[in-house]
This record gives sequence, C-alpha cells and structure tokens, in this order.
Amino acid sequence: MRDPQITRTITELRQALAERSGALIGLVPTMGALHAGHAALLARACSECKIVVASIFVNPLQFGPSEDYAGYPRDPQADIAYAGEAGADIIFLPTPETLTGRGLQTSVVVAEVGEPLCGLQRPGHFTGVATIIVKLFNIVRPDKAYFGEKDWQQLQVVRRLTADLDFAVEIVGVGVVREADGLALSSRNRYLSVSEYQTALRLPQALKAAANLIESGETDARVVALAFRHAIATGPDLKLEYFSICLPDTLEPVEAIQGKTLLAAAVRVGKTRLIDNVLVST
Ligand code: PAF
Repeated sequence: MRDPQITRTITELRQALAERSGALIGLVPTMGALHAGHAALLARACSECKIVVASIFVNPLQFGPSEDYAGYPRDPQADIAYAGEAGADIIFLPTPETLTGRGLQTSVVVAEVGEPLCGLQRPGHFTGVATIIVKLFNIVRPDKAYFGEKDWQQLQVVRRLTADLDFAVEIVGVGVVREADGLALSSRNRYLSVSEYQTALRLPQALKAAANLIESGETDARVVALAFRHAIATGPDLKLEYFSICLPDTLEPVEAIQGKTLLAAAVRVGKTRLIDNVLVST
C-alpha cells in the first residue's frame, strides 16, 4: 500500500503533479463508493503508470432531475482508505463548487455513440459524463485513463471525445468484475435488498443465455433477443429498459450477428437501475 496524497482543489492537485513532473501519469476517474471493480482499474493503472491519480467526485452533471444524485452513496473516508490500499498515489476529492460550482456554460456533447441505449433512457447523461471527463483530462493531463467495461457505452463516448478533441491520453478499458454469482459489481448494488439482489441475477444470466446461443451458432438477432427476453422474465420485480445486440464500437444494432458483437442491457429492479453487457465473438 502507498500512502496517498489527498488534494481537494485544482491548485493543490496541479502542485502535487508538478512535483512529480516527467512521470507517466494514470487517471482513474470514479464517483466513489469504491469496490473491487475500481480496485481492478487502480491495479491496472499502477502496473502501467508511475503516478496514479484517483478522482472521487459524484458528478451532478450526469444525473437527471429524478435520478439518485442526492442519495448516491458517499463515504469519502472509506474511499480514501480503499483507493490508498488499491495503490492510488494522489486522490483528487473536489467539492461540487470546485468543479461545477460556477455553473458551466460549456458542455461536451458526443453525438451518435452517446445517443442510443442509456443515452435514450437518460437524456443529458453522457453530456454530463463527457463534460466532467474533459475537465479532468485538462486538470490532470494524464498519459493514460482507465474506465470499466461495465459502462461500455461510457467507454465508447470517452474514446470518441478523446479522438475528436485530440487529447494526448490513451484510454484503457478494463474488463467487468463480477461477483461469484455473476452480478457485475456496481456502486448501485448496495441499494438492492436481499430479494432484489436475487432478482438482479437474472440480468447476467439472461445475457449469458443470449451469448451462449450466439456461440452455439445462432446468427439471427431476433432469435437471440427472444431468448434474452425469455430468460430475463420481466414482471413486477424486474423491468427491462433495453436490450441491444449491436456493434461494439458504434453501438449500431445488428440483425445478422457476425464477428464481434455487444449484448447490452439495462433493467430496473425496484428503484435500482442496473446495466450490464457481454462481448461475443463468432
Ligand atoms: O463511471 C463513473 O463512475 C463516472 O461516470 C465517471 C467516469 C467517474 C464520470 O463521472
């Protein structure tokens, strides 16, 4: 374990980075409520970079008015300890005033790849993500930045804005970390009651059923979608927001499955919204 340096203002963070100038810098942006998925991002960053910065910021820009911004889990002391244990050298823990307090008049809109799937369900969400990521890239100037593949669409949005705006940062996607029973780790899993947790397991199970069908030779997306719907078994306990069979980079839906294909879904279990995806190759 390294003893992380805590920085709360942009000036403090820039100062901390200036003292280590020339070192390869990795950035792991997070909203806190850290879990083993974040630890995997930090471990990868530590294995590739000299200095690892973990930002912990519940970004108000990426929550809709009826979403869980106020109730999103916040435990900075636990997160600092966890990020330190996981290898962060510098923790950036800004207040909302520091990053968004003045009220931004600038936003970063990533068209096309930000529009389908979660973009349809959560208008403005990816603009909020993209805007804060651009600010973090400008503040930290990382050489590499690490994002979890559970948020597959977010990863594509970040890749696209990085290419479009010529940021000199390498975007690294890190594979989904799952519980032993298959549920993808998410900070929002802590909202689930014991019975909701059992219900939520139908999400990875249905994705797996769909992936297995493709791997055993099915190429018709309609057949795979039917199998997914059968396995997810929507009802009062679980509502399906979307299921998409699409190209992994552009998220364009496919009808005839061939080559690398993403299966992505979002559900609601009680009040909790969960997303997950699997990548298949034929
Ligand atoms: O994935 C997240 O936790 C957030 O969307 C991110 C990338 C930290 C931006 O606020």
